[in-house]
Amino acid sequence: MTDATGRDAAELDATRAYYDEFSHRYEDKRGGREPDGYHDLIDALEVELVERYAAGADVLEVGCGTGLLLERFARFARSARGVDLSPGMLARARARGLDVAEASATELPFPDASFDVACSFKVLPHVRDITKALAEMTRVVRPGGHVIAEFYNPHSLRALAKRLGPAGAISDQTREDAVFTRFDSPDAVARMAPAGTTMIAARGVRIVTPTAGALKIPVVARLLTRAERALCDTPLRRFAGFYIAIYRRS
Ligand SMILES: C[S@@+](CC[C@H](N)C(=O)[O-])C[C@H]1O[C@@H](n2cnc3c(N)ncnc32)[C@H](O)[C@@H]1O
Repeated sequence: MTDATGRDAAELDATRAYYDEFSHRYEDKRGGREPDGYHDLIDALEVELVERYAAGADVLEVGCGTGLLLERFARFARSARGVDLSPGMLARARARGLDVAEASATELPFPDASFDVACSFKVLPHVRDITKALAEMTRVVRPGGHVIAEFYNPHSLRALAKRLGPAGAISDQTREDAVFTRFDSPDAVARMAPAGTTMIAARGVRIVTPTAGALKIPVVARLLTRAERALCDTPLRRFAGFYIAIYRRS
């Protein structure tokens, strides 16, 4: 029988292997060989949100991957650093000249109160010990600073599409369900506010977009992009596929 520690270590290994493999193709649809408006829209709404809290500040991105977002944070932050589990993803971030290190979200290699903002996008859904990861992000943030944490929302069109459709493939051998993935509702996210923080705001990303493919049709893409931008900070964010909480540290 596998105990919780053995299970967590096995999941971490599986996540690392999955992203090492995915690192070769991760950017194909993100401004790379086959760019699509879907990923660009998601990334833009995430980056703009971080800029609200992190302009001129010290920023850490947990699970920075290839550095696509971190590179953009570095343009408005005073300093921008990243950590990630996957050497394959980190190699690409380093090739961009970014300041990154290999580490797990649940064990950040920084002293207390090192940053003004710790943020994480499309990463925490892969972390079983979410309480520990959020506590670590809070620990490394200075009093008055912010933890910006993105979750996958079960009450969304995106979750419905994932439930109904087959798991996507990242290579001929590996499908998305090879990696642990959790879904947390907006109510659960509010309850998960780490000790010593208050949840002060939230943003929803991908509220009305039914499928990524819809953004390949130019006229539909324009309408959906406009709608997503108009709705992301309204109460309809409760139905977003990607639900981003902003917790302020006391
Ligand atoms: C979907 S990618 C997102 C990368 C980047 N944040 C972005 O938005 O482009 C998820 C990243 O999270 C990393 N990751 C997954 N679990 C992690 C953990 N426990 N600790 C640190 N990084 C983790 C993966 O290696 C991968 O690079």
